[in-house]
Amino acid sequence: MALEFSKRVARIPSYPVAGGYAQDVPAVLLASNESPYPPLPAVREAIAQALVTLNRYPDPSSSVLRRRLSERYGVPESQIAIGNGSCDILLAAGEALLEPGAELVYAWPSFSVYPHLAAASGARALQVPLDDSERHDLDAMLGEITVATRLALVCNPNNPTSTAVAPERIAEFLEEVPAHVCVIIDEAYCEFNLLEDPDSSIALLERYSNLMLLRTFSKVHGLCGLRVGFALCGSQALPRALDQVRQPFFCNALAQAAAIEALGHQDEVLDRVARTVAERISVAERLRALGLEPAESQANFCWFHLGDGRDEGEVMRGLRERGVLVRGGAALGEEGALRVTYGRPEENERFLQALAEVL
Ligand SMILES: Cc1ncc(COP(=O)(O)O)c(C=O)c1O
Repeated sequence: MALEFSKRVARIPSYPVAGGYAQDVPAVLLASNESPYPPLPAVREAIAQALVTLNRYPDPSSSVLRRRLSERYGVPESQIAIGNGSCDILLAAGEALLEPGAELVYAWPSFSVYPHLAAASGARALQVPLDDSERHDLDAMLGEITVATRLALVCNPNNPTSTAVAPERIAEFLEEVPAHVCVIIDEAYCEFNLLEDPDSSIALLERYSNLMLLRTFSKVHGLCGLRVGFALCGSQALPRALDQVRQPFFCNALAQAAAIEALGHQDEVLDRVARTVAERISVAERLRALGLEPAESQANFCWFHLGDGRDEGEVMRGLRERGVLVRGGAALGEEGALRVTYGRPEENERFLQALAEVL
């Protein structure tokens, strides 16, 4: 007899995982918005040192990491939440805020985990189309907020379209959102955004107790293999609620040690951003030379429509046969487009050559 799972399980969409994990031939991995640069030697050393105490549980409140984040961002420790990746915080926020009868609002296409929140909780999701420049339409999102809304998500820069909205627009949006609605600004890629100082949103936390800025060590810090993210919150109530719905010890000891060390290397962060932005400019030029129109990227990846009736699946197959893995738009909410992470210069070159051949 087949097992009977809860109705919730039937509703929850599977996360569209990238291919390439079981590949024998080393591929150019441009499908998951990872950093092409390995963890820094000092971070690897911190991880090695933490190995010897793995017989102990990790610090359940990540106290040293929260203290360092507090010093770095000027937000009280009690208003900082840690997660097993920032996805863990997103899912916990869904669990803490949503239930049948409640609503959440987010743009679409946006991060593929957001649909999970409604499906898991039974809340109603309102997906608001991006505007013509593939940016969040914050006015249209405001129009969908009702007394039933508990959560509004803004992904800035947006995954998968790479575009960002200006900080003034975010501030205007927050001014209009009723105080009973939690607003999560998902800033997984904010370090790559040259439209603004990545930390300009932090001042908003003093004005809006319903605000959560979601960040991660997975992208610019290159630690996605360890899973560690954090949220800077406008109130203590938010981190407290997140901790209530999660298992204890959700952030492992190696991840905490690595994140603490990584925070001490901000000059390296700037250097990686500069290298990524140089690739961003040159890849965009090359794509335009192929007749494509990439969206205005403020992230570590680009997004473009294939146009001319080209078949996304065929283009993906052609790239894969040439050893290049990217993400197709169909799995991310919009068929006929590609999302491509910037790799090292030689990896980007392989992608561009493969794409030219396939097109
Ligand atoms: C917009 C966005 N938010 C959050 C995450 C989750 O990152 P992590 O759970 O690795 O911190 C990602 C990962 O791709 C992302 O693109």
